Amino acid sequence: MKKNVSTVRLLALSLSFLLFTAAIRQNAGLEPTAENQRTKNDSTDAETGLALDKDLVLVKAHCTGCHSAKMITQIRLKRDEWQERIRWMQRNHKLWDLGESEKPVLAYLEKHYSPDKTAYSRREALRNIKWHRLENPAYGSFFRSFDGTKIYYEETGQGKPIVLLHGFVVNATMWKLSTRQQLAEAGYRVIVPDLRGNGYSDKPQNEKMYANDAEIKDVQALMRHLKIGQYDLMGYSRGAILAVRLTAIDPAVQKTILGGMGEGFTNKNWDKRRAMYEVFAGKANKYPQLKGTLAYAKSVNADTLAMQYLQKHQPSTPPTELTKLKKPVLVISGDTDFDNGSAEKLSAMIPKSRCVRVPGNHNSTVASAAFAREVIAFLNQ
Ligand code: HEC
Repeated sequence: MKKNVSTVRLLALSLSFLLFTAAIRQNAGLEPTAENQRTKNDSTDAETGLALDKDLVLVKAHCTGCHSAKMITQIRLKRDEWQERIRWMQRNHKLWDLGESEKPVLAYLEKHYSPDKTAYSRREALRNIKWHRLENPAYGSFFRSFDGTKIYYEETGQGKPIVLLHGFVVNATMWKLSTRQQLAEAGYRVIVPDLRGNGYSDKPQNEKMYANDAEIKDVQALMRHLKIGQYDLMGYSRGAILAVRLTAIDPAVQKTILGGMGEGFTNKNWDKRRAMYEVFAGKANKYPQLKGTLAYAKSVNADTLAMQYLQKHQPSTPPTELTKLKKPVLVISGDTDFDNGSAEKLSAMIPKSRCVRVPGNHNSTVASAAFAREVIAFLNQ
């Protein structure tokens, strides 16, 4: 009987506690969400990610004041190593004497974060990794190009169309969403394809499919598919090489921006293109300075055969054709970017062109605010 009464009391007590916390939550305007509330079967504390345990309060009190609990959850140490770390923090980082708490804190750390505990231990290294892009492919669309190759593209904004062409061993994601957003806010419909051989687009394993300006024809096919008459064009790095070609042959192109590009490509036998081709054709040892590019391509799971064909059949536009261009062109590069020759020399070959340098190197410039500003100013002229 007595027992029952205390159970009832306990129940009433916990019920009032629940109501109390609910009231606080309501007052604070905090709805319980996935972030601020533990879900039923979770074995970790929602606030810190630390393992749930009777001594968690102690660990939270002593160990989360100075740094993120990730310092703890991302490391596996034996008991004496944990103790050694604690001493180290006490010597160097003003961690206080844990007193009576040290024993249970150490026991907690050993129980949950030692190398031989499987419950929370670090997972095994992944093998045969398949990389996925963070964006949802549903965000973009596919269409069949002139020769049946499936091409992926993304669109942001409404207004005057502008097509953005990415560089080598990258894809549409090279064009940062912030840059696209700024263009969209400036009144542009920003269209960004994954060029064939890259990203979500098909990667034909047949060399012929990359020859005869296939990538150029893809952009034209995309414009037909979207029923777009006139458009502006921006290419960065290798994308700029395609953009020049398209500007030279397609009357639909209005204004063109060539980013991260010098005059190198105007030579059909540009040594950099030839070297890049050979690197992807199995002769990487000849070019130690380009080994990094090959390693990068492999690390992002790029199709190395497609990369080889893309270099082999990369379009080139000779100076004699550039001098005939009648459209406004902005040549823009980072102030330390001479990777593909000189932007100034390229600009000097194009009659209605202007050359601008903004702070940055070949990789950083395209994502910079200064770059976006200059591009929008040129488009709005
Ligand atoms: C008074 C501040 C303070 C408190 C409290 C504190 N730490 Fe630290 N801890 C530090 C600092 C500072 C570093 C070094 C951070 C860095 O290197 O960026 C550190 C680093 C660490 C590291 C990383 C060590 C390594 O080898 O990389 C771990 C693990 C760690 N702390 C665990 C704990 C644990 C467990 C507790 C609770 C017993 C705790 N910390 C309490 C200040 C503190």
